[in-house]
Amino acid sequence: MGSLLTDRVAVISGGGGDIGGGIARRFALEGAAVVVCDISQTKADTVAAEINRSGGRATAVCVDVSKPAECEAAAARAIAAYGKITTLVNASATVSPDGNVETIQLVDWQRALEVNFTGMFLMCKYVMGHIRTAGGGAVVNIASSHGHFGLPGRSAYCSTKAAVMHFTRVLAIDYGPDNIRANTISPGPIDTERSLRRYGSRENSNRVRGIGQVLGRTGTVEEVAAAAAFLASEEAAFITGTDLRVDGGQTAFKGSSLERYSS
Ligand SMILES: NC(=O)c1ccc[n+]([C@@H]2O[C@H](COP(=O)([O-])OP(=O)(O)OC[C@H]3O[C@@H](n4cnc5c(N)ncnc54)[C@H](O)[C@@H]3O)[C@@H](O)[C@H]2O)c1
Repeated sequence: MGSLLTDRVAVISGGGGDIGGGIARRFALEGAAVVVCDISQTKADTVAAEINRSGGRATAVCVDVSKPAECEAAAARAIAAYGKITTLVNASATVSPDGNVETIQLVDWQRALEVNFTGMFLMCKYVMGHIRTAGGGAVVNIASSHGHFGLPGRSAYCSTKAAVMHFTRVLAIDYGPDNIRANTISPGPIDTERSLRRYGSRENSNRVRGIGQVLGRTGTVEEVAAAAAFLASEEAAFITGTDLRVDGGQTAFKGSSLERYSS
């Protein structure tokens, strides 16, 4: 497709998922070698195989991002396969049961933090040194519009996504001198298997997620992947420590209805 990411080697956590997989496919089309990391070996294998079949370069690695040794091993696999790492995308996340603080089980709260937040920290912990050794690069962490506003019963998910954004600002400050940029993407309502699973139907998903006010549609995995390719590339060379909302205007207008002004 293009050459935005020629010579890059990208490690992508949650790379077997809808958005992570879309990012892996787009990065490969832009010339990057991709290391598809996922807790599901099958999902990682599927995405990597598809990329390799279509002429790209991909390696699948099974990793639970909440386990330090597995994150370290994933980085080592990337180095063994491609000799360097220039780019890290953290797209893994878990969906925890809804509830208020009285009803959320501690184990579910802790798992959300472990996967959505600590997992990202651990992947950064074991990858940043390799990106520095490569002479610099970029990190793209996937947050969410739900890190900008709350949803009832989803304190764990919403808090971890807000935390991802603030963590990434500090990461950008710490690693700017090493020529490593770090940014987040906050996807809004994106059509994925996971949102369908969560909300049951597209109509219910649209209702709950407050869709329809600005662009009047949900987003696609490809639209998130395009933003990630941009942020990972030299096109975004002076962009670091920021959040790019790929949300169709969801966070610009969070009302219940929009009456268009007509003169
Ligand atoms: N779908 C949306 O509308 C939407 C909106 C905003 C933000 N997001 C964010 O985008 C990212 C991807 O979401 P998605 O919709 O593609 O979901 P998804 O479930 O398809 O992808 C998440 C992937 O993470 C993997 N994963 C889960 N736990 C893991 C662990 N411990 N270690 C490694 N991998 C693990 C899963 O196997 C899955 O493949 C997530 O961070 C999510 O919070 C999604």
